[in-house]
Amino acid sequence: RTVYVNGDYLPEQDAKISVFDRGFLFADGVYEVTSVLDGRLVDFGGHMARLDRSLSEIDMPSPATHAEIEAIHRRLIEENDLTEGLIYLQVTRGAADRDFLYPEEPKPSLVLFTQAKPLIETAAAANGLRIAFVDDIRWGRRDIKTVQLLAPSMCKMAARAEGVDDAWMVEDGHVTESTSSNAYIVTRGGRIVTRNLSNSILHGITRAAVLRLAREAQMEVEERPFTPEEAQGAAEAFVTAASSFVTPVVEIAGTTLGDGTPGPVARRLREIYIEEAL
Ligand code: PDD
Repeated sequence: RTVYVNGDYLPEQDAKISVFDRGFLFADGVYEVTSVLDGRLVDFGGHMARLDRSLSEIDMPSPATHAEIEAIHRRLIEENDLTEGLIYLQVTRGAADRDFLYPEEPKPSLVLFTQAKPLIETAAAANGLRIAFVDDIRWGRRDIKTVQLLAPSMCKMAARAEGVDDAWMVEDGHVTESTSSNAYIVTRGGRIVTRNLSNSILHGITRAAVLRLAREAQMEVEERPFTPEEAQGAAEAFVTAASSFVTPVVEIAGTTLGDGTPGPVARRLREIYIEEAL
């Protein structure tokens, strides 16, 4: 596989980053994950807009223009023959003598790689996910897509230890989001409920697209926090992310939703999202 590191396209085993890179030492970096369907980038403009916002929130200069970043994505798709999968992009503040203060003249590192994998035909989409609740132990700026991912890793491991697929994280009695996706419930009255945007959650690019598609399809959307109890009593539930589009949830903290199969709202939204992306 060819990867991109600071201007070079290299076989993955030849790519190198300094041990002094602040991404490695301080998790001082941000990232994006963009999906590729049929060899084409999905929602690329949205991912670039969020990258700019993440960078500006941590006062990091951008290492390249959107056009340059898009050209790198396209070249990796071509070199790696990627038809379906993900492209991971990471910008860190680069190598500097270890110091809690940012370096005065940072030289940001830009790394991209591809991951080929099926996104449309997946077991999770067909069967739905089983979810556990865990405490949200992450920091207070979840709106910034930083590479500081140990907390969500720990939350997902905790869910796996309970024998289920993933966790929905809970803070102050309300669900924030899932470990690497946004969380939604559908009320028995058919309203889609998902947490409103704030520093408590990542502003999902897939979330924005799915809410727009839902409203265009005359579905009712409520952006507000919901409780674990409300989720367990919901008609159905689902998650969204670039890596999984819309994926149904069929069990929450031991409670089966509906008949335990993916619900109609989640299935329809998944279908129209993929249709638009293709
Ligand atoms: N994760 N919430 C969190 C905490 C996430 O990590 C992600 C994405 C999302 C969904 O955002 P988007 O729709 O823009 O992908 C929500 C990526 C896919 C990851 O870390 O792999």
